[in-house]
Amino acid sequence: MPKEKYYITTPIYYPSGQLHIGHSYSTVAVDAMARYKRMRGFDVFFLTGTDEHGQKIQKTAEKAGKTPKQYLDEMAVGIKKLWELLDIRYDGFIRTTDEHHEKAVQAIYQQLYEQGDIYKGSYEGLYCTPCEAFWTESQAVDGHCPDCGAKLEKTEESSYFFRLSKYQDKLLKLFEDNPEFLLPRSRANEMISNFIKPGLEDVAVTRTSFDWGIRVPFDPEHVAYVWIDALSNYITALGYPDDLTNYNHYWPADVHVIGKEIVRFHSLIWPALLMALRLPLPKQIFGHGWLLFDGDKMSKSKGNVVDPVVLVEKYGVDPIRYFLLRDVPFGADGSFSNRALIERINSDLANDLGNLLSRTVAMIVKTFPEGLPGEFLEAPVDVELDDFADETLRQVEAFMDHLEFNHALESIWALIGHCNKYIDVTMPWILAKDEKDHPRLASVLYTLADNLRRIAVMISPFMTRTPALMREQLGIADGDGEAADSMTSWESARTRDLYRRNPEVRKGKPMFPRIDIEKELASIEALQ
Ligand code: ME8
Ligand code: MG
Repeated sequence: MPKEKYYITTPIYYPSGQLHIGHSYSTVAVDAMARYKRMRGFDVFFLTGTDEHGQKIQKTAEKAGKTPKQYLDEMAVGIKKLWELLDIRYDGFIRTTDEHHEKAVQAIYQQLYEQGDIYKGSYEGLYCTPCEAFWTESQAVDGHCPDCGAKLEKTEESSYFFRLSKYQDKLLKLFEDNPEFLLPRSRANEMISNFIKPGLEDVAVTRTSFDWGIRVPFDPEHVAYVWIDALSNYITALGYPDDLTNYNHYWPADVHVIGKEIVRFHSLIWPALLMALRLPLPKQIFGHGWLLFDGDKMSKSKGNVVDPVVLVEKYGVDPIRYFLLRDVPFGADGSFSNRALIERINSDLANDLGNLLSRTVAMIVKTFPEGLPGEFLEAPVDVELDDFADETLRQVEAFMDHLEFNHALESIWALIGHCNKYIDVTMPWILAKDEKDHPRLASVLYTLADNLRRIAVMISPFMTRTPALMREQLGIADGDGEAADSMTSWESARTRDLYRRNPEVRKGKPMFPRIDIEKELASIEALQ
């Protein structure tokens, strides 16, 4: 049977500064989802990229004394390096300065113009350059952007407009008929009551006051509004409109993952554009919350950014990925703090998972240096823990269907907690003392090792390095997590008692060394 496809995207980021932990948050989440779907046997296409046109980029490049292209090429290299550092495994990386994309956007403008969805007018209003967004006087807050707070510029220019208003009723129906189109649901209610119900206005989709953009084919004095250019990436990256192989295979997207501040563009303008082009709509848009820092959204313009490169170098990639996905429900806002990060590392990683592995491995090595003896395993096995793991797997799958990463991780950590409790209750160190208890001891340790094997699989979408470290100590050969028959495949987590009888168990270094939190925080303080 051919694999079912799964197309997932991140926003394409503005390379107007170094990307920070906020951008990493969206990208790590999409990567976890993509890895999970691959393990479940889907044919995944994970798209990310960079949004390279517009006034903001032009100004930033000028400030840096570079041509936009020079500046952007350097930035794109840095961004790809960051994703490599965070073990992001994307399938496509689009840059909106790619020639194919530019031509495709021109074709889109031409079609919309010819069919009357784009018409000429003139724009008078306010513009936010950091957000590249138009605002009306009534939407502005004291002359400032309601989204990012930057000062708005009065803009008056000849412009072409897209007839968004024409799609008002269809958009309303889209939201009403598809309660899962935009998640979390609260954001859909916001779109309906704040934007659709009051009446959608047509959108200015060309600019003339600067020239770093895609030329509009029917009037080359104008360049494409950067949001129309950017949104189109989700189909142009698949080859639309001239090479439809990937497009036909992967479109519509299964989910566009974005931050909440750009939900308006994705859930109103993007579907309307697709309706105008007579193309299918994405199945789902997920607008996650903001990572806040000192209570404020992290932003390049505010300067309160946290550098993911520094964090990964200091703490390792898995602790950062774990923290991002575990600490905050995907959808809600949450805070980033060094204290919260270190606390998670110490309690969840060093204590719960790290100790479970090292205790289990140490006891096996000490009592059964030749490996767990098969003949002892005739002793009754504790199925309660195995049942718990079955239930955990079911929960993780249900949570992942709704991008509830934190709940999925919570479930896995409940299983880890259960294993630790199992050690406390069975007291293997007491069983070790008396040889006649050794069959029972072997059975207890086997149960632990087999569940650690299943845990290593379940954490694989989220943590990219830890599963291999666990398997190394447990004596399980690491394999390709997507090969269905291996002990690393998702399906192998569904099956109990796969752990080999005489594996080469060996102690390793602690996977997550404990951090002295007060000392660490003081040293970070000293750096600032
Ligand atoms: O908006 N918390 O690009 P951008 C959580 N180019 N997520 C955050 C975040 C934070 N503090 N800061 C950034 C653009 N993000 C457009 C997108 S898409 C067709 C065009 C993440 O560089 C989040 O996903 O400003 C947010 O939506 C995105 O980065 C904005 O990145
Ligand atoms: Mg932004």
